[in-house]
Amino acid sequence: MEQTVYLETLGCQMNKLDAELIRQRLGQEGYRFTLDADQAGVIIFVTCSVRQRAEDKVLSKIGQLRRRHDQQKDLILAVAGCMAERLGPALFDLHPQVDVVCAPGRIHQLGELIARARHERRRQVALNDPAEQSALEDLDASRRQTDADHPFMAYLRVMRGCNKFCSYCVVPYVRGREVSRPPESIVAEAQRLADRGVKEITLLGQTVNSYCHRNGTTTVRLADLLARVHEIAGLERLRFVTSYPRDFDERLLAAMADLPKVCEYLHLPAQSGSDRILAAMNRRYTAGQYLDLIERARQRVPGIAVAGDFIVGFPGEREEDFEATCELMRRVRYKNCFIFKYSPRPGTRADGDLADDVPTETKRRRNQILLDLQEEISLADNQAFVGQTVEILVEGPSKNPHLDEGRTGPADPAYSRSLGRSGPADSGSIQLVGRTRGDHIVVLQARPDRIGRIVPVRVVRASALTLFAEPVR
Ligand code: 5AD
Ligand code: SF4
Repeated sequence: MEQTVYLETLGCQMNKLDAELIRQRLGQEGYRFTLDADQAGVIIFVTCSVRQRAEDKVLSKIGQLRRRHDQQKDLILAVAGCMAERLGPALFDLHPQVDVVCAPGRIHQLGELIARARHERRRQVALNDPAEQSALEDLDASRRQTDADHPFMAYLRVMRGCNKFCSYCVVPYVRGREVSRPPESIVAEAQRLADRGVKEITLLGQTVNSYCHRNGTTTVRLADLLARVHEIAGLERLRFVTSYPRDFDERLLAAMADLPKVCEYLHLPAQSGSDRILAAMNRRYTAGQYLDLIERARQRVPGIAVAGDFIVGFPGEREEDFEATCELMRRVRYKNCFIFKYSPRPGTRADGDLADDVPTETKRRRNQILLDLQEEISLADNQAFVGQTVEILVEGPSKNPHLDEGRTGPADPAYSRSLGRSGPADSGSIQLVGRTRGDHIVVLQARPDRIGRIVPVRVVRASALTLFAEPVR
């Protein structure tokens, strides 16, 4: 039991990658993994600090482990990830049962920290330390595993940290300054992923288009990196997330237009449509400049799908500011948007300088209005796909089979049977899920031998979140 680990991950793709690396490293050190926390001798949470709610969730899970920790004397409870850096040893004050606090910049040492906590019977803290950069790079470069649930798609970190200091955001404080990984190391990793059968790679960075690696006199930017990864045989699709609306140069748009594997997709958060709020957020662009960029992208890369993020209820956000956000959303016509209620983060400029003065109820209402507006846009734009043939990468069986109520009622047992993962009743076909180049989710009924392939399908129906398609013969 001592060597059995339960690992739970919250938050973004960066955390998921970190968790994958932790799993790999601990596996090499002789640990085994369990999905049942009750069977574990080590419990690790890879945590998120971007909003208070994410922190509260973990704090409550840790709270629930107090009794167990009292009873199971050798249980080790480790908090890794962004909360570890943000709260540091204060986590021990909040929850004395925590044994290890390990910041994102020290995950290569997590095994060591766990062993020391156990043998020395003393709590261990490791906070970010720029001196550990090369060990961290070694850990990234050692990656051999991919997400078992999605063997044909992988995320690949190209940079760590963020230098932008948007006034609301905790990321630069918990993940540190921007560091771009060496291009050779990224290309080698992409090659290994492709060798293992990965067809689609998403390059990952907090502000991925700021990627910049200097070596002597050569400077490699994201456009160059895309061109290099593009060469890899077997790889069929390339994406990159998340883009920052500044630092988006013509060369990157040209790379998107010219490199056939680079998908017509951008995740380009605007955060607000009001210039006054954008300035207070320290985003360093105006709504007009953002729209210009969208316009240029649509000209260079026809059919490009754009996803966005918005924060509602930022300090001082008035009705007219919110209106400007709605207007921006209507003009961009995003494929989908992530909408968040402002959550003050201790240590950030917005929290220090500005009162969280938009009432909770107003945040809730604005959040709902944006959700409704986006749903309307997504539905209309998805319906325009009906009748078209699109190319999808089939990822696997649908996890939550959609009951396609439009055609046969969910009460129809024959149809229901044919949907599930387990019961391929309909001549061996099951419900599969895939994505278009624009990252639209597509569900289709087909034989499982299509999994992992890029296939044309015809869209027959659409909802705001999903396209329903049939195989093209
Ligand atoms: N409150 C609410 N949302 C936030 N985000 C970042 N910081 C905060 C905060 N303090 C959102 C932004 C970002 C996404 C990852 O999380 O929209 O793009
Ligand atoms: Fe946070 Fe802004 Fe950096 Fe994104 S660009 S991680 S919102 S500071």
